[in-house]
Amino acid sequence: MSAYLIAGGRVVDPASGTDAVADVVVADGVIANVGPNLSAPDADVLDATGYIVGPGLVDMHTHLREPGREDEETIATASAAAAAGGYTAVCAMPNTDPVADTAAVVEKVWALGREAGLVEVVVAGALSRGLGGEKMGDLGEMARSAARVTLFTDDGHGVQNALFARRAMEYLSAFGAIYAEHCEDAALSAGGHMHEGNRSAELGLRGIPAAAEELMAARDIALAKITGCRLHLLHVSTAVTVDAVRRAKAEGLPVTAEATPHHFTLTDDALTGYDPNAKVNPPLRTQVDRAAVIEGLVDGTIDAIATDHAPHALEEKDVEFQYAPPGLVGLETALALGISELVAPGHMSLMQLIERMSSTPARILGLEAQGGPVTAGRPANLVVFDPDATWTVDPMKFQSRSKNTPFGGRSVTGKVVHTFFRGRQTVRDGALISGALV
Ligand code: DOR
Repeated sequence: MSAYLIAGGRVVDPASGTDAVADVVVADGVIANVGPNLSAPDADVLDATGYIVGPGLVDMHTHLREPGREDEETIATASAAAAAGGYTAVCAMPNTDPVADTAAVVEKVWALGREAGLVEVVVAGALSRGLGGEKMGDLGEMARSAARVTLFTDDGHGVQNALFARRAMEYLSAFGAIYAEHCEDAALSAGGHMHEGNRSAELGLRGIPAAAEELMAARDIALAKITGCRLHLLHVSTAVTVDAVRRAKAEGLPVTAEATPHHFTLTDDALTGYDPNAKVNPPLRTQVDRAAVIEGLVDGTIDAIATDHAPHALEEKDVEFQYAPPGLVGLETALALGISELVAPGHMSLMQLIERMSSTPARILGLEAQGGPVTAGRPANLVVFDPDATWTVDPMKFQSRSKNTPFGGRSVTGKVVHTFFRGRQTVRDGALISGALV
């Protein structure tokens, strides 16, 4: 395996609290040394002057679509997209076909992730069989399988039955696993295509009220309190939900939360032109909600930035708004949106951004080899990025097999230059090394 000397970059590492210019030597899969003026004979020298060197990014929420929808994405193409976006670990959502509700399916996804070899693919298991919300999936077997599942969710759907949610939490709490909720009361959201408010009325589209999310978030927090189960709220999108998480944390409950780049960047104004690529679930909300999500990310109420990368085929999205499935791809734009929307306007520092995108999600998922610290002896999972480079999003250049993004043509700041996974360089000078996997 080659050795690398990443020279003169600014190491920003929340896990060790480091923010200093230093050289980083990578050899034999690990970080061999971090410090000033290092020399490493025979190493491949990468000049990182002006760049940030941080722990590889960790995405808690990725739809890889395999098995079942390989026309939209495969584990290999999603891994390539992740590496291109600076990620070294992703958590695969279980709403595949077949659903990842048994040890056999989670092990298959895990094995395909290892085969692709570009990022660590952590697998989430379904709470309920077939995401039906009635019978429990093989939770214990998935946890004990080779995939060692620690996060369970019916993402794509909320768990509608409160008793089912309670029983699943009771069961999961016995082995310290995480119950992760897609908060959506289906009776309230049924038939909705966007956030319910002035904009939906103007556009003549049926809305999804904020309460559809907020009711379930409140219910689950109450259930976490009586079960003691670790609860993670996926893609938080409303001001009331942010506040509920803030209060739950103040009470000392084991609650964590994530928010997506699209919810901190866009509002329902993005739907004015009926762009199906801006249709997503939960929907883009109001400016008040967006500001609350940003505030939550800044004060730590929201622990992690997660992409909810949701590939959809062109022909599925290229239809009238009402008929388009919700979801957008996010792995290759997340870091730039974080820098452009959170760091550049002064909401947070680069250190905080890396904390939300790497060290904290790694800690929540229990990924010991991810999230830093960027110190000697640790596995070399690293991202090197230029925080000042401005570029225009071109979906046709994505490694992802799907191109459904509302950010095409947008000018953003912050560009991934190199990514290292287990000491192997997966991205060099902004290009995937192994080529797009098809
Ligand atoms: O917009 C979304 N798309 N939200 C989800 O929760 C599921 C996802 C998908 O799987 O397409």
